[in-house]
Amino acid sequence: MARATATALFVASLMNSAYSAASQAYTWKNVVTGGGGGFVPGIVFNPSAQGVAYIRTDIGGPYRLNSDDTWTPLLDGVNNSNWQVRAVAHDWGIDALATDPVDTERLYVAVGMYTNEWDPNPGSILRSTDKGDTWDETVLPFKVGGNMPGRGVGERLAVDPNDNSILFFGARSGHGLWKSTDYGVTWSNVTSFTWTDASSTYTSDPVGIAWVTFDSTSGSEGSPTPRIFVGVVDTEESVFKSEDGGATWSWVSGEPMYGFLPHKGVLSPAEQTLYISYSNGAGPYDGTNGTVHKYNISTGVWTDISPTSMASTYYGYGGLAVDLQVPGTIMVAALNCWWPDELIWRSLDSGETWSPIWDWNGYPNINYYYDYDISNAPWLQDDTSSAEFPVRVGWMVEALAIDPFDSNHWLYGTGETIYGGHDLLKWDSAHNITLESLAVGVEEMAVIGLIAPPGGPELLSVVGDDGGFYHTDLDTAPEQAFHSPTYGSTNGIDYAGNNPAYIVRAGASSTLPTVSLSTNFGLTWSADYAASSSTVPGSVALSANGDTVLLVPTSGSPLVSTYSSTFSTVSTLPSGAAIASDKSNNTVFYGGSAGSFYISTNSGVSFTKTVSLGSSTAVNAIRVHPSVAGDVWVSTDIGLWHSTNYGSSFTQIGSGCTAGWSFGFGKALTTSSYPVLFGFFTVDGVTALYKTEDEGTNWEMISDASHGFGAASANVVNGDLNNYGRVFVGTNGRGIWYGVPSGSLPASTAASTKTSTTHTSSTTTIPTTLATASSSKTSSSSSTTTTTASSTSTATASPYGQCGGSGYTGPTTCPSGWTCSAENSYYSQCVQS
Ligand SMILES: *[C@@H]1O[C@H](CO)[C@@H](O)[C@H](O)[C@H]1NC(C)=O
Ligand SMILES: *[C@@H]1O[C@H](CO)[C@@H](O)[C@H](O)[C@H]1NC(C)=O
Ligand SMILES: *[C@@H]1O[C@H](CO)[C@@H](O)[C@H](O)[C@H]1NC(C)=O
Ligand SMILES: *[C@@H]1O[C@H](CO)[C@@H](O)[C@H](O)[C@H]1NC(C)=O
Ligand SMILES: *[C@@H]1O[C@H](CO)[C@@H](O)[C@H](O)[C@H]1NC(C)=O
Ligand SMILES: *[C@@H]1O[C@H](CO)[C@@H](O)[C@H](O)[C@H]1NC(C)=O
Repeated sequence: MARATATALFVASLMNSAYSAASQAYTWKNVVTGGGGGFVPGIVFNPSAQGVAYIRTDIGGPYRLNSDDTWTPLLDGVNNSNWQVRAVAHDWGIDALATDPVDTERLYVAVGMYTNEWDPNPGSILRSTDKGDTWDETVLPFKVGGNMPGRGVGERLAVDPNDNSILFFGARSGHGLWKSTDYGVTWSNVTSFTWTDASSTYTSDPVGIAWVTFDSTSGSEGSPTPRIFVGVVDTEESVFKSEDGGATWSWVSGEPMYGFLPHKGVLSPAEQTLYISYSNGAGPYDGTNGTVHKYNISTGVWTDISPTSMASTYYGYGGLAVDLQVPGTIMVAALNCWWPDELIWRSLDSGETWSPIWDWNGYPNINYYYDYDISNAPWLQDDTSSAEFPVRVGWMVEALAIDPFDSNHWLYGTGETIYGGHDLLKWDSAHNITLESLAVGVEEMAVIGLIAPPGGPELLSVVGDDGGFYHTDLDTAPEQAFHSPTYGSTNGIDYAGNNPAYIVRAGASSTLPTVSLSTNFGLTWSADYAASSSTVPGSVALSANGDTVLLVPTSGSPLVSTYSSTFSTVSTLPSGAAIASDKSNNTVFYGGSAGSFYISTNSGVSFTKTVSLGSSTAVNAIRVHPSVAGDVWVSTDIGLWHSTNYGSSFTQIGSGCTAGWSFGFGKALTTSSYPVLFGFFTVDGVTALYKTEDEGTNWEMISDASHGFGAASANVVNGDLNNYGRVFVGTNGRGIWYGVPSGSLPASTAASTKTSTTHTSSTTTIPTTLATASSSKTSSSSSTTTTTASSTSTATASPYGQCGGSGYTGPTTCPSGWTCSAENSYYSQCVQS
């Protein structure tokens, strides 16, 4: 039996806490990007209550749908207390979600980020009786992997529709099938389910059980449902069934075995049919072959209903939906059809015939059977792109659902957003629908840097996967991400202290220099030809006058360039060092690594170690006073340090501060006071977001029980030097937040009163390897390191087959007449030359 800890989560009021540091009430809001920005692996509608629906994300928790198409996040209380290890906000990795069809207020999620050593904590089942407003927890005796390979299969957690005290949960990593008979409070191993992952050779850490689907029609209200289907991630027998409520199990005979994995098993109760999508990879990035099958429960007959034949497909299948109101109406998505765009099909005759969302009208012409509406997040399309076929329908489509109460309403998740609409029946009449981005409220980005330079826009951000943004209004989606150059994941941003409109950013590009410069606060950019596309990007610091760029790549030695001369190696600063520029003295840069502090007084050409910061073993961030030369602050694993002499000597801040991560300066209360310092620190033994207005003598906690921001070490923080009291927090999976003291002026009013002449320092030093836990388009997902890669092949890739991409180890040569074309950083494909 699992131990049931039944801890009440997120209900304690910090205002009454016993911590000695004071607290100040802050009002928190997401900075709106409006488009999600990350992978949505699961969408679940409650079949019995109209309008009750949820999504799960792989790094940012679950959300609940509102009647106006917006989403409400359900796990924002997650804080550092239990989960801060290797920058993993453990509870934000959601591997499965189940909504109770009987007591429709009940909701369950399986949480845990990684099953490998990146996340040392066991997984949990969180259960709610108020649709996710509050939760109770049962810790499981094994890990759960919400950001592991195969996270889009499912749902592997299910509530019995006839006796809702019964739940089944299918584990990863060889831990088998689990059952609860008390609404998820306690769990026991279903030992009669004897399939073991040992027979699954797909990954070194087995993905395990893919989905659990009750056949509601086999039972009657109040008694356990006898017939249960279970799909497992196995290239051989992969669909099992029980006819006695899970007491005994057998393989569903006749299942076709082509070496494919069953991603979804969706019941059409009125048809007594189970629909299954198969792909030859566990997802979410892969798949070159697969089928869609239906299993007729009354006859035991399996039928291949694939929209594309196995002989000619170059994708597998993921998302699968049935219209519960119209038996026989079903939809399915290619898991990944990278070129020219994702495919989704709809059938009105149980899969006998299909119509696609687009089709060729003689290459290169395409019939688009949809109107594309991204008014909620215009940046989802790159207006500067010259791609022949812009990707709009998406990629990584594992989640696809039709509202059980409204045949016109549908939703699907992609690697970057949620699409769907409210006129789905027009697919059948006019064969033309409006495809809308419907992710408002979902803010899933992994944030890497935030700056609000004096006199500039409200905020500049850089993020994983989606580049970064010039925010003219914190409550409205940006029109475009940073472009020209366009970077997917962006690693760093900084501004010049004496010329705050001068900005540098660094990020990955396969064609253009990985460093770019702006002289108008990031409105427009020029590539910095000091770098090339092969310069490894990383954190950056820009000298006070803006002439020199110091770059610490994510791998390799630091580099420096003045006036865009070719980057040269800085051998006297350790690789991976935290860096900052002095904000007033143009020739001075600072560095920190392994508890030691370094200074350069020759524009970054060479660094000298000045001091060791006590017994610190890490330097987490360096920040410089926005207008006082040589006034430097450093956070380390043992506390916070301050120097007023260019780092020649440091004083450790006392007052109970024993560790610090990202921090930054905000506008001072008066012109004679010191800037406010905001950041994640451990003060009096409690790790949280704090501010100090007197250089660290007194601290106030400004995070609270409902705004925990996940793991302290994964976040980036900066103050706002234009607006007293305002602070920005970038999370790893829950987007960007801004906070203002409760009761203060609304942000928009405050912004118009800015009078500051001071300015803030940049925030670029979170460990980049931790910030990319990733979820979308251009990510090189950290979790893919757990897959068992086959050895590098010398064979030829097939037409339309994969021929390259990050983590890919298959053939890279295309057949004659075909060339290997990079669609994005992790997928290249053989296309006709
Ligand atoms: C962190 O969350 C836990 C669980 O809700 C709560 O008890 C604790 O007070 C929170 N800690 C901080 C510092 O916010
Ligand atoms: C659960 O049962 C299965 C099948 O008997 C077994 O392989 C697995 O190790 C068990 N898991 C745990 C955590 O006991
Ligand atoms: C299942 O089989 C029965 C008997 O052949 C048939 O009438 C029914 O249409 C089938 N259902 C589906 C969804 O194919
Ligand atoms: C897909 O797999 C099937 C079964 O192994 C095989 O017959 C077929 O040729 C494959 N399709 C492609 C395009 O390789
Ligand atoms: C569907 O409607 C859109 C918007 O009106 C239009 O651009 C598109 O051409 C239509 N598709 C077809 C195939 O008629
Ligand atoms: C900048 O710093 C260097 C090194 O500490 C110092 O020699 C120089 O005088 C400073 N410049 C100014 C303008 O303060």
